[in-house]
Amino acid sequence: MTDNADRSPVATDARPRLSTRFTEALGIEYPVVQGGMMWVGRAELAAAVSEAGGLGIITALTQPTPADLVKEVERARTLTDKPIGVNLTILPSIAPPPYDEYRQAIIDAGVTIVETAGSSPEPHMQQFTDAGIKVIHKCTSVRHALKAQSLGVAAVSIDGFECAGHPGEDDVPGLVLIPAAADALSIPFIASGGFADGRGLAAALALGADGINMGSRFMCTVESPIAQAVKERIVAASELDTNLIFRTLRNTARVAKNSVSDEVVRILNDGGQFPDVQPLVAGARGRKVFEQGDIEAGIWTVGQVQGLIHDIPSAGEVVRRTVAEAKQRLQERLAQFA
Ligand SMILES: Cc1cc2nc3c(=O)[nH]c(=O)nc-3n(C[C@H](O)[C@H](O)[C@H](O)COP(=O)(O)O)c2cc1C
Repeated sequence: MTDNADRSPVATDARPRLSTRFTEALGIEYPVVQGGMMWVGRAELAAAVSEAGGLGIITALTQPTPADLVKEVERARTLTDKPIGVNLTILPSIAPPPYDEYRQAIIDAGVTIVETAGSSPEPHMQQFTDAGIKVIHKCTSVRHALKAQSLGVAAVSIDGFECAGHPGEDDVPGLVLIPAAADALSIPFIASGGFADGRGLAAALALGADGINMGSRFMCTVESPIAQAVKERIVAASELDTNLIFRTLRNTARVAKNSVSDEVVRILNDGGQFPDVQPLVAGARGRKVFEQGDIEAGIWTVGQVQGLIHDIPSAGEVVRRTVAEAKQRLQERLAQFA
């Protein structure tokens, strides 16, 4: 972290500065990223994060077509003139989306930062690089981070076992994964999974990361386009209220604990296969949770960090207080031990 000369106390510091290799590489003010989130990462949320100095990310596949993605990026541009990223998640699928067309839409929309996730960004790197796009590759292991580094990505986002969504199959939590990544990588990287506040950002910086990525925390904000009941459920929930589904299929996903995810875990632990749970995990049911606020309607994604989420602020407020609290922790609490 290349902190600058600003040493004034947080309370009197209207706009604290916190620059790192990551902010410098990406051309943003604060090392706070809102990771791609299916059904959540739309223009309002991404723009609010970017406008506050972080990096907001629109989720490509939430848009029904590549043309809709271009329109969503244009809509975000009416809300902020700061850089906005697009997430392209490449996962195994029975009916894969037209990834190449979404990639072209990202390029056509003039986006300058892309977050790739799910599998290697290799098939898309040449086109993104030719278009001058900086790629942040999100992955869950040091070996995949090193592979991404060798492919020429600008930065890596390393997702610990705590994270919402797909933590991989290695089960290495951030407390080990982050310093392990710091030891191995030479490019900037941010820590992801389990972060909700400035304590987390300070800890990530202390462990060698150049910033943080947050999903669940930004999902529970005013601009997040999901039903209020889901946000209230996140506030009420503890760190114990997630389930790991698809473990036996080696496609683990961390999701909210509810009657549906309990049932999926039970069926698969009893020897069931994907077809046995397919109706329960249907995307349409999960979407209903977010749109109608019926938290038992299907599978929905959230991380253990919900145990640290106690309110529903604006996304800009999350960025501001995360940075302010991190500065305070670094300057006051940690300084007393220095
Ligand atoms: C509702 C939701 C949907 C998500 N969808 C995606 C996705 O489509 N692609 C992706 O790369 N990550 C996705 N994620 C993961 C986040 O980008 C981020 O890596 C993760 O939330 C970090 O863990 P945290 O929730 O503890 O902050 C999703 C997370 C949530 C909460």
